[in-house]
Amino acid sequence: MANKSDVASSVDLNSGLIGFIQASPTPYHAVNTLSAALKAAGFLSLNESKPWKLKKRQGYFVTRGGSSIIAFKTGNDDLASTGVRMVGAHTDSPCLKIKPQPEIHRYQYAQLGVEVYGGVLLNPWFDRDLSIAGRIDYREKNGKLSHCLINFEKAIAVIPSLAIHLDREANENRKINAQTDIIPIVTQLGKDGSIDLKGILLEHLRSTMKLNTAEKVLAYDLRLYDVQPPALTGMHEEFIAGARLDNLLSCYVGLQSLLLSNDKHASLLICTDHEEVGSISANGAKGPFLESVLERIAETLATASAESKRHILENSIMFSVDNAHGIHPNFPGKHDDKHGPLLNAGPVIKINANQRYATSSETSAFFRQLCEDSHVPVQAFVVRNDMGCGSTIGPIVAGELGVKTLDIGVPTFAMHSIREMAGAKDTAYLASALTAFYNR
Ligand code: CO
Repeated sequence: MANKSDVASSVDLNSGLIGFIQASPTPYHAVNTLSAALKAAGFLSLNESKPWKLKKRQGYFVTRGGSSIIAFKTGNDDLASTGVRMVGAHTDSPCLKIKPQPEIHRYQYAQLGVEVYGGVLLNPWFDRDLSIAGRIDYREKNGKLSHCLINFEKAIAVIPSLAIHLDREANENRKINAQTDIIPIVTQLGKDGSIDLKGILLEHLRSTMKLNTAEKVLAYDLRLYDVQPPALTGMHEEFIAGARLDNLLSCYVGLQSLLLSNDKHASLLICTDHEEVGSISANGAKGPFLESVLERIAETLATASAESKRHILENSIMFSVDNAHGIHPNFPGKHDDKHGPLLNAGPVIKINANQRYATSSETSAFFRQLCEDSHVPVQAFVVRNDMGCGSTIGPIVAGELGVKTLDIGVPTFAMHSIREMAGAKDTAYLASALTAFYNR
């Protein structure tokens, strides 16, 4: 570990992470929480639709679509000769989203139809205390369109399992039909009773949130989440269990590292939405958000020539930080014998010959040196040749910008479950490595 003053202690980091995840049930909430932390640390908010006047040695942040954010420090060095040190992560996690016309009434139960977002591991969603959060777009009494974030916080939905007595083969061959089997129950009604979700939302806006001018809910982006807060687990609290560790862990550690970094070089953190569904959107990593922000930084801080912009990109490095798969003691055959990362044994360099990860020999060596200098242990992962490989925003950013890129992340279990698991020491290891990168 690097010395204590450089890095937040793992106890502080982990309790901060637990609070961050709990405050961020959706990408919108994550961006709000990140924005508030940046503001509190003296970063200035920028608006994409207004002119930017940037100063050296100042922090800024800008959001897009309410669910993606870029924060950066302008540093003091000449931008063209030192480039920008970038860390990227994603704000979204696989989940169940409420359909636009979701109300289903059967046997006097009210249910809400859901759509599967991303690669959800469906099994663990059964028998959980679920709540609903997200964004509401509504019309005010004066005709103006407005929006707000909403979080019911209480457990108001559940997807009960089918009892084993009604399906004796459940442990051998139960399959999940995502259209029919996972519709949550939200309330019990009297005979001929019904619910109207938009009406319930409007009532919540007016009475609980005191938005008295709200007249009609027009649309929403709502998702279910588990109300159980993240927690330290294991006999010696060596693990963190919680929802959305993929990839709020990387967003949070990225933020703390940016805040801890010195003001020497330009440094940047990008946290984008829609990674779990391919990143193609106006505010996803495959959209023009990062390129546009880098261009505006270049225009206001460096000479605006095309040549100097190319120098900036050539001298920049991107760390795409997203969780890796730790080798599972019950399923060791799912990993290559020589590449089974362990929890609490440091960040994992992710390598793939077919460019599903953007790591090169050059960026890998850079990271190994960085970790060695910071006394951070490091591991490597390649997927088995007889299995498919996941991907990250790394290859996307590398392909769009031509920036040298590295794919890393902390090892975890149960990726894309409603409750994932990571090592309690790995947050501090990752923070040491990222802070050292920003300061390099
Ligand atoms: Co991820």
